[in-house]
Amino acid sequence: MILVTGGAGFIGSNFVLDWFREHDEGIVNVDKLTYAGNLTTLKSLSHDTRHVFVRADIGDAAAMASVLAQYKPRAVVHFAAESHVDRSIHGPAEFVQTNVVGTFTLLEAVRAYWNGLDEEARLAFRFLHVSTDEVFGSLEAADAPFSETTAYAPNSPYSASKAGSDHLVRAYHHTYGLPVLTTNCSNNYGPHHFPEKLIPLMIQHAIEGKPLPIYGDGRNVRDWLYVTDHCSAIRTVLSAGRVGETYNVGGWNEMANVDVVGLLCDLLDELKPKAGGSYRDQIKFVPDRPGHDRRYAIDARKIERELGWRPAETFETGLRKTVQWYLANQDWVQGVTTGEYRTWVETNYSQRH
Ligand code: NAD
Ligand code: DAU
Repeated sequence: MILVTGGAGFIGSNFVLDWFREHDEGIVNVDKLTYAGNLTTLKSLSHDTRHVFVRADIGDAAAMASVLAQYKPRAVVHFAAESHVDRSIHGPAEFVQTNVVGTFTLLEAVRAYWNGLDEEARLAFRFLHVSTDEVFGSLEAADAPFSETTAYAPNSPYSASKAGSDHLVRAYHHTYGLPVLTTNCSNNYGPHHFPEKLIPLMIQHAIEGKPLPIYGDGRNVRDWLYVTDHCSAIRTVLSAGRVGETYNVGGWNEMANVDVVGLLCDLLDELKPKAGGSYRDQIKFVPDRPGHDRRYAIDARKIERELGWRPAETFETGLRKTVQWYLANQDWVQGVTTGEYRTWVETNYSQRH
């Protein structure tokens, strides 16, 4: 089987669900179940013997050693992280703890486990680290997209902590020979995305009749990738990626935030028309995120050239599926937006309005 960390979060849960559509190989899914981890997302697997869920913190060395010894995975796919930039601005400590110290603790447990494998299993073993394009910093409008050789220049506590984890993963390969792979992906969107991030937050605020809070001038650019395309890229790198290499993953789809929100409003106007106007009327420009990166763009030619991967969805098809999913799954949204979520929204947005 394989070990997945963070498999109750947005991308991790999509990865687990997709994996079982393609494989019968088991998954042991290790997740601390922070506010961002939700087992209801995985309820279709509750009687599926291929899936074992273990609630544990990747920063708990004994728990990691015990899971590895018990389940003897042939690979680890490491998603677990604190992932929201705005939360990292309000409270960076948890980001250093999970993303840096937690990844270090996991790497130490994996190194000890891997050293105890026989020669054949050691050669076949993989540790795939799921990282982000934010480690490369911010681009100007005319700059070339990030490639695998772009220098690291993280700007937020989130991206700095992810950069720290990337460096540790690299060092464990260089120093100890651990067979690692790293992916650096752009902004994902799709089903089961926690409604603190741009796209699900805007959908939710729109249908609840709340303001749609766009930071700054709304001209910050992100590259958007439908989440199942990220999952297929990870499966591709896991099975065929060259050990020690990093692969950039992106959607060839750069767009300014204000245009993304406009498209969402148009889709909602079509799929859930509201009386007396357009959802665009709810758009509200609010004070900017401190240190807000202006532009991310990904050069994803290496993964295409070496491994033949390209995204299957366009932004048009992916965004429509996403809006339809949120309209049809309001019970999931209500289930994950607890009191903690309402406190967060108050913390992040009350000063801005
Ligand atoms: P998420 O916040 O939705 O989920 C994170 C998951 O990790 C949750 O289930 C949470 O409970 C779990 N977790 C957090 N701390 C933990 C700990 N100490 N021990 C065990 N589990 C813990 O995040 P996501 O958006 O699914 O991102 C997953 C990974 O992909 C992250 O490493 C992130 O940096 C990376 N990434 C995300 C994006 C994106 O657009 N969301 C893009 C590129 C890369
Ligand atoms: O690039 C990959 C990264 O994408 C991942 O590593 C992160 O885990 C993920 O959260 C995401 O980071 P961003 O900061 O780009 O995502 P977020 O959805 O928070 O914001 C997207 C853009 O929208 C960003 O420019 C800020 C803006 N924004 C966001 C929110 C929540 C707004 O204008 N208003 C908002 O309310």
